[in-house]
Formats: sequence, C-alpha cells, structure tokens
Amino acid sequence: MKNRIYFDNAATTPIHQEVIDAMLPYMIEKFGNPSSIYSFGRETKQAIEQARKIVAHYLNTKPAQIFFTSGGTESSNMAINSAVEELNCTRIITSAIEHHATLYCAQYWQKVGRVQLEYVNLKEEGVIDYEHLEELLKDSTHKTLVTLMHANNEIGNILDVVKVGDLCEQYSALFHCDAVQTIAHYPLDVQQMKVHFLSGAGHKFHGPKGIGIMYINENVSIAPALLGGSQERNMRAGTENVYGIVGLAKALEIAYDHLEQDSLHIQSLKQYMYSKIKTILPEAIFNGDVVNGLYTVLNISLPKTSKTEMLIMNLDINGICVSGGSACSSGVESISHVIAAIRGTNNMVPIRFSFSKYNTLEEIDIVIEKLKEVIA
Ligand SMILES: Cc1ncc(COP(=O)(O)O)c(C=O)c1O
Repeated sequence: MKNRIYFDNAATTPIHQEVIDAMLPYMIEKFGNPSSIYSFGRETKQAIEQARKIVAHYLNTKPAQIFFTSGGTESSNMAINSAVEELNCTRIITSAIEHHATLYCAQYWQKVGRVQLEYVNLKEEGVIDYEHLEELLKDSTHKTLVTLMHANNEIGNILDVVKVGDLCEQYSALFHCDAVQTIAHYPLDVQQMKVHFLSGAGHKFHGPKGIGIMYINENVSIAPALLGGSQERNMRAGTENVYGIVGLAKALEIAYDHLEQDSLHIQSLKQYMYSKIKTILPEAIFNGDVVNGLYTVLNISLPKTSKTEMLIMNLDINGICVSGGSACSSGVESISHVIAAIRGTNNMVPIRFSFSKYNTLEEIDIVIEKLKEVIA
C-alpha cells in the first residue's frame, strides 16, 4: 500500500510504539482481574493506581480525583449528567461550537425540562464573548453549570480557562471543561483552572482509543455513573480497561516529556501550511483564531465548486487524510455546526488539517502539490 499522509490528528492519533510496548504485557502475561485479591490481580490493580498517579501528577491534583472512563464522550456526559442530577444545576451555559458530546447532552436536559439552556455569544471567528458570559452568570438565581471546551476540535480556538474559572468562582457556578484537544498538548493545572470537572481522551495524544480521563474536584460529590462492582472507587462499575489505562498514562508521560520540542515542530508545520495555502489558494478563508489557536489545527473554507466539494475524497484517493469537520460528524452533518455558527450557512467548503509530531514539511509540500492539482 502506498504511504498515507495523515493530517487528521484532531480526529485521532497513531499510537506511539512505546505505548504499545507498555500495554502488551497487560494483554499477554499480566491479564489478572484487578479486583482479584491474589497477587496476579494485585499487580494489575497496582498498574492502574500507578497510571492514576501519573495522570494526577500532570494535572496537578490528587490521584483520588482522577477516574478512568471510556473516552471524552463518556467523561463529558458524566460531568453534565452529574451536575444536573446530583448537584441540582437548573441552568447550563455552553456555546454553539462545543463538541456534540457536550451539546447533545445539554440539549437533552433542556428537552426534558430539567434545565434552562443558554448559549454564550461568540465574537468574530468564534471567540467566546467573556463579557456576555459574565452577564449571563450575574443574571440568574439558578444553580448553574458552565460547560466550555478548552480548545475547539474543528477550528482550534482556545478558551481562557483561567478567566472562565475565575468567573465561575465569582458567581458560584460549576465549571466543566472539555480538554480533549489540549491534554498532553499544553500544560494543564486543574487548580489554576478552578474546574469542577475536566474531560480527556487517550487517543488524541498517541494513546489507545476507548480510554478517557475524568477529573472531579474534591469539593463536589456525585453518585456512581455505572452501578455494579466497586471499581473506580465505586464511581464506575465494570472491570477496568487495564491496558488502555496503562497506555494512556504512558502516552501522557511521553507527551509531557517532549512537549516543548514536539509543540515547536507542530507549530512550524502549521505555520508552513498556512503560508503555502495563502500563496496557492488566495481565495481560502481561515476559520477560527489562527494566531492564538491550537497549534495542531488549521481550518480553511474554500468556495463551493464541483472540485472543492469532491476535495476530501480526491485527496483520499491520493492517500491524504484530512477532514471536513470533526471525525464524529463527517458523513452525518451536511455542514459543520461549528462553521455554521461562525459563518452561517454559506457557499464554502471547510477543510481541517490537523498535525502531529509524526508529520513533516515534506508531507505538507506533497499535500500542497495535490491541492493545486485537484483544485486547479
Ligand atoms: C473536543 C472533543 N470532545 C470530545 C470528543 C469525544 O471524545 P471520544 O471520541 O474519545 O469520546 C472529541 C473527539 O473528537 C473531541 O475532539
């Protein structure tokens, strides 16, 4: 098979070889059930607790505040559901450009009449209007959950989490932050962010799929998300995904150990792609806050033509993977809800390029040549 160029790292990332090496023993010889009391089980239990310590260390919290889930969707659902069902929130403030894991969950609670749902205004290029957020927070007697993502998976905009955390504290609101796109890509400190809940997923930073992180602040007490066994300190029943947990922690460790050098490399790829696109496709509009946004994501819109509509498929035929929006929405939504929120339903075709440490400048040159060929 010809070499593939993978520019869809916001959808998922290739797993690091060292992560696979760390996971393998837990698939082969160390397969004991962590709930078993004999030593064979205790060694897998220990591996889980060691992984929890690693995650807690990088988020600047205690291991007791970290729970392992099946991914970002479960973590975000768990945070929002708990805020409504256990912590009596009767209002949710979010934005129109959140991931569907947040939006659909918040909209569900609105639909069943349990919460008033408010959307914070967006400024140009989808930047959150913090003044409006404060107005919303000031103006209510409801107990409120604010759920805003740290970085947008489609356009890369980054939230000022410290500012939002401070506002939530000032107005006694709870704060859930979907940090799926930023964990392992930026230093994160849950104390400084003043979050009550934070969601993450292993597969966005060269870890395995189907494993997620949920941080829960020690001052909020919630009921179990799943009932059954006493795993995850009674919070989430079911035999743990031991190798997933071990792999996630290893991937996190590798990412933070190489953060500076990897982020500089990826940033330079984004910058190079940005300048090349400006030259060869002057009609392209850059979506989101390109300068201050996520260094892994570059999102453009091209005028809709028969060629641009077929662009992603044509790139795919040439072994190039890019996305039209988020992976989760491709093929389902005719237009990305994020692009629609910032541009309206216009006659443009959005394309997201998202990079990882494994990408190279040479790959960008190839993609640029293909773009020229396909669109010209
Ligand atoms: C910002 C964001 N939140 C949540 C999710 C959902 O994560 P998962 O697919 O691990 O459930 C994703 C995945 O694309 C994401 O990018």
